[in-house]
Amino acid sequence: MKCVDDFRLKFGDREYVPIMIGGMGVDISTADLALEACRLGGIGHISDAMVKTVTDRRYQTKYVKEKLAKYKFNVNNPDKSVVQFDLDQLADATRMHVESTMKRKTGDGMVFVNVMEKLTMNAPKETLRVRLHAALDAGIDGITLAAGLHLGSFALMEDHPRFRDAKLGIIVSSVRALQLFLKKSSRTGRLPDYVVVEGPLAGGHLGFGMDWAEYDLETIVKEVLEWLKAENLAIPVIPAGGIFTGSDAVKFLEMGCGAVQVATRFTVTKECGLPDKVKQEYFKASEDQIEVNEISPTGYPMRMITSSPAIGSGLKPNCEAYGYLLDAKGNCAYVTAYNKVLADNPGVKKISEIHVYEKTCLCTHMRNFDCWTCGHYTYRLKDTTNVLPDGSYQLLTAEHVFRDYQFSKGNTIALPPVDND
Ligand SMILES: Cc1cc2nc3c(=O)[nH]c(=O)nc-3n(C[C@H](O)[C@H](O)[C@H](O)COP(=O)(O)O)c2cc1C
Repeated sequence: MKCVDDFRLKFGDREYVPIMIGGMGVDISTADLALEACRLGGIGHISDAMVKTVTDRRYQTKYVKEKLAKYKFNVNNPDKSVVQFDLDQLADATRMHVESTMKRKTGDGMVFVNVMEKLTMNAPKETLRVRLHAALDAGIDGITLAAGLHLGSFALMEDHPRFRDAKLGIIVSSVRALQLFLKKSSRTGRLPDYVVVEGPLAGGHLGFGMDWAEYDLETIVKEVLEWLKAENLAIPVIPAGGIFTGSDAVKFLEMGCGAVQVATRFTVTKECGLPDKVKQEYFKASEDQIEVNEISPTGYPMRMITSSPAIGSGLKPNCEAYGYLLDAKGNCAYVTAYNKVLADNPGVKKISEIHVYEKTCLCTHMRNFDCWTCGHYTYRLKDTTNVLPDGSYQLLTAEHVFRDYQFSKGNTIALPPVDND
């Protein structure tokens, strides 16, 4: 019987433990988490989602305060089109986040950054270009293009000196999306170095509609592998979504996949950015508390724990401070939904009396760790640890979870040594 450690992910003449920890914004996949994967010989992701907020928290910058001060005059205006990102500051923040992480790198693995196209930031192309270039400037090992089709993203990086040396990958949920991407980016003469195939059981935004349950990862992965073989394209395929044990991973590696991308099991590690109280919510969640809903203003379905404070919250939009989801015209589906509820309830005096169920203010809630997005198997996390004398669940270390994926056999999950700290 094989384990994950019997396989290696190969990029040129370099080999890696075939475990990649997926990007989890906003700072849920922290630098600490990504660096552990790297130290252990695998690949970890940081995320550039709401990067200015992340540097404010971690590196004492004041970007959010400054942006809010600049646009304060607009906070009561339903039209948010004036709210723009300062591109120099965005570049500085991205470089700071990436550089500070890369400086601390140890081990034989790599650190990548997850870059979501759906963070349209009221100037989709310009802001995405800055984010990609700044990450490359700052020495990131690789970029995973996520949440969106990214049909023009390679072209945005083409003139960067590291365009051909950094690892560049894309996340897709169908063979068709991959075909489209390759067709559109063929002009740059560069193939992706890896393709993450994300199935319907993943956390975060899904690349499926509300009929997600009709799809399964294995079928999509097979289609992708067959098509790549028929086209003579040797691109490592990295499945993601619902791979909960080392044995789940081995099944895909035996099919010919290069590695696996995993995330949910790391949400309850000490290195994960979620507050400890929220990690306990992830442990406690039962199967009927995991839902896929349509409240993300991005338009993609998203999986979350039903007790997330973000669900139904009628928070006043915070675009002047954040505004990461404003589209090219300065619209956000949450701002529209919020204003509709306000118009329908003219007697309301206090904002806290309002509930908005149609959409959520994703920026504010992700920033505050109040939108508990999660993978389908979150309800199994309680089986991966010990219950402490006070009834809470023992947090794990990233090393423990990583090594469990790497060495476990026969669908077993190793419990950690009891830790009463
Ligand atoms: C809490 C959480 C947040 C996530 N955020 C992102 C994200 O910001 N961008 C992204 O591309 N994927 C995101 N994902 C998806 C993961 O990177 C990964 O592909 C997927 O969850 C793997 O499946 P698993 O969680 O079942 O192991 C997130 C997943 C979780 C659990």
